Amino acid sequence: MSVVNQVKERLDLVDTVSEYVTLKKSGQNHKGLCPFHTEKTPSFVVFPETQTWHCFGACSTGGDVFTFIEQIEGVEFGDALEMLAERAGVELAPRTEADIERAEALGRLREVNAAAARYYHNLLVNSPAGQVARKYLENRGIQHDAWETFELGYALGEWDALLGYLTGKRHYSPEDLAAVGLVSERRDGTGHYDRFRGRLMFPIRDVSGDVIGFGARALLPDDMPKYLNSPQTDLFDKSHVLYGIDRARQAIRQVEQAIIVEGYTDVITAQTHGFENVVASLGTALTETQLRTLKRYTRRFILALDADVAGTQATLRGLDVAKEALDTESVPVPTARGYIRYESRLDAEIRALVLPAGMDPDDLIREDADEWSRLVETAVPVVEFVLQVQTADLDLTDPKDKSTAVDRLLPVIADIGSPVEREHYLQELARRVQVDERVLAQQLGRVSSRPRRRVRSAPEPRSQEPRRRPAGSFGAEEYVLASLLDRPFLWSYLQQHFTEMEAEPLNAADFTAAANRAVYELFEELWSSGRVHNRATLLEELRATLTSALNDELDFLTQHTAVQPPVPDQEQAVAVLKATLRLREQARRREIERWRFVLETAESSADAETARTRVRERTVELSRLQRALAGRDKLPSDARL
Ligand code: UTP
Ligand code: MN
Repeated sequence: MSVVNQVKERLDLVDTVSEYVTLKKSGQNHKGLCPFHTEKTPSFVVFPETQTWHCFGACSTGGDVFTFIEQIEGVEFGDALEMLAERAGVELAPRTEADIERAEALGRLREVNAAAARYYHNLLVNSPAGQVARKYLENRGIQHDAWETFELGYALGEWDALLGYLTGKRHYSPEDLAAVGLVSERRDGTGHYDRFRGRLMFPIRDVSGDVIGFGARALLPDDMPKYLNSPQTDLFDKSHVLYGIDRARQAIRQVEQAIIVEGYTDVITAQTHGFENVVASLGTALTETQLRTLKRYTRRFILALDADVAGTQATLRGLDVAKEALDTESVPVPTARGYIRYESRLDAEIRALVLPAGMDPDDLIREDADEWSRLVETAVPVVEFVLQVQTADLDLTDPKDKSTAVDRLLPVIADIGSPVEREHYLQELARRVQVDERVLAQQLGRVSSRPRRRVRSAPEPRSQEPRRRPAGSFGAEEYVLASLLDRPFLWSYLQQHFTEMEAEPLNAADFTAAANRAVYELFEELWSSGRVHNRATLLEELRATLTSALNDELDFLTQHTAVQPPVPDQEQAVAVLKATLRLREQARRREIERWRFVLETAESSADAETARTRVRERTVELSRLQRALAGRDKLPSDARL
């Protein structure tokens, strides 16, 4: 049995969920308030029999124990597996010696940081020398609560205070301290000295709340730089860091929106004034890695931009990065109609809000929290924002300025991933400059500089060593997945069919087993990104990205196809299509069952009405699927493989 199944077998979903949600028995099942959105009446249900959960409220998501942990902890499959394996007492495949050593070393570095944060914090709160920092915080109106919550600290103005404490009382080595950037080595090689001296300390934490570095603010006006941060270390990578993420992630998920500001104090003020979904990029342009981290929690972003830099090229380029990072995953559906559905399913959007001149969020929230809320609510989509900024200095009735506007904006529009959105903004530009849209469309065709797909040569396929097959079952899900891994080109054919049927495209939710879902998700991401073009590279990339447990699943799937007699593409296409339709049919059946359950246990007539409507809708869809299944014995003659 694969570790994934072992973990599932040993854990009871009701127990696991109960650690996060108060559940009440309701018939065969358990109900509670959904942890993924705010609600007053419980619509979150755990089904012990199938070991699945579902939210019948606003989020209407569901899954198994893995998806639950992924979502509630904001982690990816591999991490969820690690956490659950530990709980279940299932041993994961032993890692290599080097892996273990590295994990231990990182653990020690985290410990050093935690000890340093406590040390600095204690000095801030208790030491006579810390008076200067306490006064500073009080003057800025940062309350004692926040000192605790953010574990703010003070570094003494001495050269070896931290060094002495952590190497003396706490027995850490100077090398450990140097490895996290808390001390530097003297140039003459005679030892080490404290990096942070006479500064207010902000511990910077990762998603799990571990201290990975520090930001240190000068307290004297002449002290430069204003903020001194930890250097790049094995723990601290500035392009990854989001200050405040450990505390903000829950709120981000709940309000389904992340607000990104620049500085430490902006986060502290926002979070302590009830705007908990705020994180900081720490003064640099937002990176793709930072967005990817945030994307685990929401697909809606608001960037808070300084008035004086909002329109600068660097900011505009930053916005491009932001958009690209999100778009790479939102182009997999081959038709416009499918695309909109996909887009709306992902609900990906980036908006911009411009701060009043000379103010940062810290100032604004203190002065006028309502105005901050208003700016958040009225934030505009980035493309719209760029349109506004790039035409602000132009007179759009003047022919020369019109042409300037078109020159500036067409390339921006050409970069928009979604054809529908692109069309929308083209119309918008046409309207603003009062030029026929067809003229712009023609010109758009010329500036359109979408990068060509790189074609990589396929490496030699690896010889396949026979491997012990985990004793998992090979059902419709596994069949579809294995076929897609074997003939990935079938994927667009399937999507085309779903689009023609006006059904949702094939997606991860069609797979019930977490491992299958995880493999499918990555498959879809890789294949639709256009980066991989054939089976060999696809498998290679999958192997490189998947955790070892999922690599076992992958082997299981590919082994299975390897032992089947070869079938012509056409035949395989029909068979796989039927299997996907069957998957969808099963998914709809499960949904109908769940809604029936809601109907039976509904506590209000509104809930009952919703449930009745859902049952009706899903039943209609179900019979459409069944008709489609009946008529799919032959490949339609116009099928494009
Ligand atoms: P700001 O200069 O806007 O600082 O830089 P701030 O957060 O408003 O700080 P206060 O209100 O003056 O105390 C924004 C962010 O840029 C990074 C820090 O993360 C800071 O919070 N920064 C700024 C640095 O890393 N180094 C610097 O020298 C300045
Ligand atoms: Mn500030």
